[in-house]
Amino acid sequence: MNVLVVNGPNLNLLGEREPEIYGRTTLRELEHEVEARASELGQHVRFFQSNHEGELIDVLHNQRAWADAILINPGALTHYSYAIRDALLAIGVPAAEVHLSNIDERGEREEFRRISVIREVCVERFIGLGVGSYLAALEYFARDAGIEV
Ligand code: DQA
Repeated sequence: MNVLVVNGPNLNLLGEREPEIYGRTTLRELEHEVEARASELGQHVRFFQSNHEGELIDVLHNQRAWADAILINPGALTHYSYAIRDALLAIGVPAAEVHLSNIDERGEREEFRRISVIREVCVERFIGLGVGSYLAALEYFARDAGIEV
């Protein structure tokens, strides 16, 4: 099983960006952990991060034949990118929405985070578990493929 892991804007700054919310794990470390768990589960992973909406859409298009499943954390684009939503619909590869923080329970002035325009086009969502959200999504797809987790 091939799994494409897509991270959106500002996630390149993980580790230094608002560590009280997102933790101290860098993107590289996160990818390392995901890679290790994926290999235990017999999954092959490819990683992509961009701060640009169009590049995220391009990678979804370009990897659609390779990917059996997608883990996507679109960062703030989660809350308003109909273009990413359309791309997920267009390619038809099952995708899980993942977030490090619990976007449903962030502060009062952050109600916009409760809206996810990709939620309905994803098969599952994993939020609020830090890197664990990504690992849970990998395990979800493994289980779905009949792999023992
Ligand atoms: C995030 C939550 C988003 O609201 C925020 O804009 C991010 C990160 C998360 O992983 O918790 O960039 O997607």
